[in-house]
Amino acid sequence: MTKPVDWMQEARNIHWFEAPTRLLDDSNPPFYRWYPDGLTNACYNALDLHVAKGRGDQAALIVDSPVTGRGRSYSYAELLESVARCAGALAAQGVGLGDRVLIYMPMVAEAVIGMLACARLGAVHSVVFGGFASNELAVRINDATPRVILSASCGIEPTRTVAYKPLLDAAIDLAVHKPSTCIVLQRPELHADLLKGRDISWSDAMADAQMHACVPVPSNHPLYILYTSGTTGEPKGVVRDTAGSIVALKWSMKSIYNVEPGEVFWAASDVGWVVGHSYIVYGPLFSGNTTLLYEGKPVGTPDAGAFWRVIEQYQVSVLFTAPTAFRAIRKEDPQAGLMKNYDLGSLKSLFLAGERCDPDTLNWAQEQLSIPVIDHWWQTETGWPICANCLGIEPLPVVPGSPARAVPGYDVVVLDEQGEVVTDDSIGALTIRLPLPPGTFTTLWNADERYQKAYFSRFPGYYETGDAGYIDEQGYVFVMARTDDVINVAGHRLSTGAMEEVLAAHPDVAECAVIGVADALKGQLPLGLIVLSDGVERDYSDIVTEIIASVRENIGPVAVFKQCYVVKRLPKTRSGKILRATMRSIADKQPYRVPATIDDPAILEEISALITPRD
Ligand code: COA
Ligand code: AMP
Repeated sequence: MTKPVDWMQEARNIHWFEAPTRLLDDSNPPFYRWYPDGLTNACYNALDLHVAKGRGDQAALIVDSPVTGRGRSYSYAELLESVARCAGALAAQGVGLGDRVLIYMPMVAEAVIGMLACARLGAVHSVVFGGFASNELAVRINDATPRVILSASCGIEPTRTVAYKPLLDAAIDLAVHKPSTCIVLQRPELHADLLKGRDISWSDAMADAQMHACVPVPSNHPLYILYTSGTTGEPKGVVRDTAGSIVALKWSMKSIYNVEPGEVFWAASDVGWVVGHSYIVYGPLFSGNTTLLYEGKPVGTPDAGAFWRVIEQYQVSVLFTAPTAFRAIRKEDPQAGLMKNYDLGSLKSLFLAGERCDPDTLNWAQEQLSIPVIDHWWQTETGWPICANCLGIEPLPVVPGSPARAVPGYDVVVLDEQGEVVTDDSIGALTIRLPLPPGTFTTLWNADERYQKAYFSRFPGYYETGDAGYIDEQGYVFVMARTDDVINVAGHRLSTGAMEEVLAAHPDVAECAVIGVADALKGQLPLGLIVLSDGVERDYSDIVTEIIASVRENIGPVAVFKQCYVVKRLPKTRSGKILRATMRSIADKQPYRVPATIDDPAILEEISALITPRD
């Protein structure tokens, strides 16, 4: 058994303006509050502390952008100066304690600078992933009601330049809430038109700005809101607090990832996802590492050797990415021939998360790299790993298919339908006995009731992860599937419910269902089934084309919604429940049982012929 963490002791490793005297306020479950009476600041812990302790000249942030051919490095002192100036620019726009700032930016240093500047002021950032379209952005603007939005003229995808500004303008037009200011980074690849009176260019805003000091905030002050997909189309605004995040993330850098201050840590993800928040920005900086911001892909920028080039060039110690990235590399370079062109001697371990890691991919990575390859499991809600092979505490044997054991701080329990603890290795709901450790979510933005209902009502006393799985005799956890309508496309968490809302809004559609089906590269892909309204006589292919375009336009390209079929009816039980799980099994070529309560077995056969993949 691994020793429990002494969270009060760990709290002594961070900087406090006023140290807490109490560890946990558990008087109002499930609203637990860690370190309730402390005063701290996340930006101080990420930057000022290190400069004060003599780390000012060390690289804090390295930007590597194969898609633009540019890059640069910021020392801790330089990053501190840029962040303090950005905080001053935000303050000049009226941003203060508790105000929200929405960040809709590509993988540029300014995105990190903006996040840290918010933390410096005690303002609450909400980063929206660049692959989301205007409608999704508008929903988040309405919910977070930001005073200021930070954005850029464009993002660069390998095949195209994505003009962010028109997407932002459209989102603001759609939204009921209007920000008072947008600060827009003009990138050389594309110039954005600025709206007089509302928009300011990043360079103008920074040029006039005063450096701003850190504002001490109470421990439980929100550090950020990060929207994530749930069962319905309405995203959930996960709220993380300040002190818990600092303590837990700092602890995880050494205990889980086994990196020391000064080492280079690279999370090849995007700042718009939780991995980006925790392990591109906050975790590595809290612990005095050098973090890498990579604007590129594992393949195609320029080839499947891109990761190896970056590892050699910056002497990366630990790499963290999603299994899909390794599947993409393997597909293009099955023998890892390109790896031989680089010296990967600095790399100590590879961590994979974001989706289930198939043993085949894990074994391939391990064979090619000859280092520990660690699958670990966590979620936007938890903010840091629930299960992992904690290399900094006690490395365990790697069991492909399992993210190893519960990390200290998490008491993972499998429950059956009745809420009874499952003691053998049968599959049930993966839950965590309360309280959750520091650094996990404290509520959903403006939605305390939804927080309680969505996560804590089915199994009182436990947090419901939404994943199903089992625990073996050695305590290894196996995460097998989601229990809701969330799917994982290339490590990106998406809601089939949100896609169904878009399909249902098409004037010719009477009924629809979207399911996630297995894909060899991206893990899962969405597949839509639509039933047309009576009397619709248009060409089916036109309707399908419109629907595919509409998902791209409303949710974004990241949904990769490209498969859609017109069917006569949807298969349902007699009580009207759509048999999504059965259809998913058919599409995945998995064994399935036709429920006795099916209302029309023939329709399932028809659909099966459509969606079963051909060999
Ligand atoms: N801004 C705008 N568009 C974006 C975007 C962004 N930030 N990120 C992705 N997109 C677009 C892509 O251009 C693509 O558009 P297209 O349909 O015009 O080609 C679409 O969204 C799908 O993108 P993606 O899923 O990235 O697919 P891909 O084929 O371009 O790349 C992988 C496939 C596997 C290489 C890529 O998904 C990858 O590197 N994944 C790593 C996973 C990851 O970072 N996960 C985060 C959690 S750890
Ligand atoms: P996100 O909130 O985007 O990080 O997505 C979290 C979800 O991704 C989890 O609830 C799981 O469904 C899935 N996931 C993440 N990591 C793993 C993993 N290592 N193994 C299995 N599923 C994972």
